[in-house]
Amino acid sequence: MERRSDWYDHPEYYEAIFGTDTERELDFLLEVSRRYGTGGKRLLEPACGAGRLVAEAARRGLQVVGYDISEKMLAHARQRLTPAERRRVRLYPSRMEDFFRPELEGRVDLAFNLVSTFRYLDSEKAALEHLEGTRRLLHPEGLYVLGFHLTDYERRKAEHERWVEKLGKDTVVCNTHEGLPDRRLRRSAMRNRLRITGPGKNLLIETHWYFRTYDLTQARRLFRRAGLQVLEVFDFDYQVEAPRKRGEIRLDSIFVLRPV
Ligand SMILES: C[S@@+](CC[C@H](N)C(=O)[O-])C[C@H]1O[C@@H](n2cnc3c(N)ncnc32)[C@H](O)[C@@H]1O
Repeated sequence: MERRSDWYDHPEYYEAIFGTDTERELDFLLEVSRRYGTGGKRLLEPACGAGRLVAEAARRGLQVVGYDISEKMLAHARQRLTPAERRRVRLYPSRMEDFFRPELEGRVDLAFNLVSTFRYLDSEKAALEHLEGTRRLLHPEGLYVLGFHLTDYERRKAEHERWVEKLGKDTVVCNTHEGLPDRRLRRSAMRNRLRITGPGKNLLIETHWYFRTYDLTQARRLFRRAGLQVLEVFDFDYQVEAPRKRGEIRLDSIFVLRPV
């Protein structure tokens, strides 16, 4: 068996697992933008990865800026676009902590960052810099839709998720493991295993990293400090008709944020 150690060096397998809900996610984002924001056409995806949402938005005629720290993910994002889509898309290598483009200042209608990517920002300072930087790019009525799992610090068991998808003749099995949260260090140890098997192929890609942890109070305090107000919270089932009720506790959270 061949072994590798960074799933973002293998965008095709990452997308085989996480690319299955893309149309539904974009439907949700655009409906949220119509109901709570400007509904305008200028989109921004921080940490856009291999560009599944960027490509889908460009296919629908929207103008999209995306950026990511991984050159391999960006290369995949570039090559998947048709010439017509490419004219509507700008992709940059950049970190969430310091992305800035003067031509975007105050002009972005909808920024979005789903699937817990925000938790890669490993300190309060880094998270604040990212939120303030993104707020600066937003139109005054624009939105930042931020989806990530909140942490239950009382949890006593590790968490585990498993998905299986086909990619051509290959089978991709994805196992994600989140260890117990460390309340003091504000992080939990993450492990992802992608096992790819097929004709002449037997590959294991095992990735380790830390995710920063937030409970609801910590998240709300950070948004306030960054000058962003929470307009609504949704669950990861992308039901725009069913925002979370006041007092209802769920960990999978999509925050709809707007500059104060
Ligand atoms: C889970 S993927 C999400 C990709 C894309 N947003 C999606 O929904 O498919 C996380 C992405 O975050 C990128 N990333 C991690 N830390 C980053 C940082 N500090 N700045 C920019 N990108 C980062 C990784 O390279 C990877 O492409």
